[in-house]
Amino acid sequence: MKKLWSGRFTGENEDWVDTFGASISFDYQMAKQDILGSLAHVKMLGHCGIISEDERQQIKAGLKSLQEKLDRNELTFTIQNEDIHLNIEVLLYEEIGPVAGKLHTARSRNDQVATDMHLYLKETVALIIKKIHQLRNVLVDKAEENIETIMPGYTHMQHAQPISFGHHLLAYYQMLTRDQERMQESLSRIDVSPLGTAALAGTTFPIDRQMTADELGFSDIYDNSLDAVSDRDFILEFLNNASLLMMHLSRFCEEIISWSSYEFQFVELTDTFSTGSSIMPQKKNPDMAELVRGKTGRVYGNLTQLLTVMKSLPLAYNKDFQEDKEGMFDTSETVITSLEIMSDMIKTMKINTTNMQQATEKDFSNATELADYLANKGIPFRQAHEIVGKLVLECIQQGSYLQDIPLKKYQEISSVIEADVYDKLSATTAVKSRNSAGGTGFDQVKAQIEKARKELQN
Ligand code: ARG
Repeated sequence: MKKLWSGRFTGENEDWVDTFGASISFDYQMAKQDILGSLAHVKMLGHCGIISEDERQQIKAGLKSLQEKLDRNELTFTIQNEDIHLNIEVLLYEEIGPVAGKLHTARSRNDQVATDMHLYLKETVALIIKKIHQLRNVLVDKAEENIETIMPGYTHMQHAQPISFGHHLLAYYQMLTRDQERMQESLSRIDVSPLGTAALAGTTFPIDRQMTADELGFSDIYDNSLDAVSDRDFILEFLNNASLLMMHLSRFCEEIISWSSYEFQFVELTDTFSTGSSIMPQKKNPDMAELVRGKTGRVYGNLTQLLTVMKSLPLAYNKDFQEDKEGMFDTSETVITSLEIMSDMIKTMKINTTNMQQATEKDFSNATELADYLANKGIPFRQAHEIVGKLVLECIQQGSYLQDIPLKKYQEISSVIEADVYDKLSATTAVKSRNSAGGTGFDQVKAQIEKARKELQN
């Protein structure tokens, strides 16, 4: 089959070259963007007198017709036509004949593909921002319902100090807020038009790059043509931001998976987010949370892959760049789906408040309370720590807890201890009184929620 670029070639292309070299199997996902880019370009070519008004009208009509066919799923792409750009151009020939050949004036596939990707990511990142925002809303709602739900807080996966479950959820709210900010900030670098920088050096035609940028809704244009066609930072930045986001989701999923286990029984996922076993009739597995956790790996992989492809590539365009797209598409889809799943999973997750609370009652997560109590009565904290440590050891040996120690025994240990110590040892009091800024105290959690609500309105 004759190629659009075959003028200086004598030999026929081998089939395997088409197969190995083609990108249409994945870059068809930018068909919409490719046609939009061409529409802007042809309008500008007409406006600048580079093609005639009649030619402009014919090409525009052809592109519009392709746009409609695309919407109706009626376009057929082939690997012989290599990529989305050449496929669209060949289809345009079929629509309007040889005048289609004028479309590629003052343009190259190098600025064209970059433009398509900028347009694609601009739309995707905006959608991801929306989905993160939705999940942040879900977290704040769930946190508000659970301000006074007490659970063990962990360090090293060991009971550390009791906390509010709402506070725990809000920690994820904060991570996601940063993720959203990062996505938002990256838009300023995505929202830049490379169109009109042509193959690498600009063009001799009197084009108007600002006009095509305005047409396509870009806020700015690249200042350097070599940079414009060689820059993939904006994709790497996206993959990096997506990796951080997925890392947060995977940590949350890991906790949800643990909390759903028989040992914890802190939460119960609805049937939608669980699956059964083909052999074990009792099973209800947290598959969706596991998959979000697992898919984090492929997003990291996509980042590493593109960093590796880009390493040491000389300016300007190299065919290696074609390897920049699959990871971008895959990451977009993975991130959007994961965010949607997380929102629904958390919204519908049943919280077993009794089990959470009980887990803080038969443990020593109130040991700091007792040490703080003694320190408040003037005993140096280090000494208080030592006293409580010894008591914990004794309790472990006897199979009892700090709250079981009779007042008489406490007063033998230290005369400063009074009957109010038992209230201090309760998990609820422990949580309620951690009122330092950003702490787990109920008032602090309420303040966080109030601030979050305001942030979410912006
Ligand atoms: N399919 C190519 C890509 O994805 C489009 C650009 C081709 N440019 C070229 N000079 N061969 O990178």
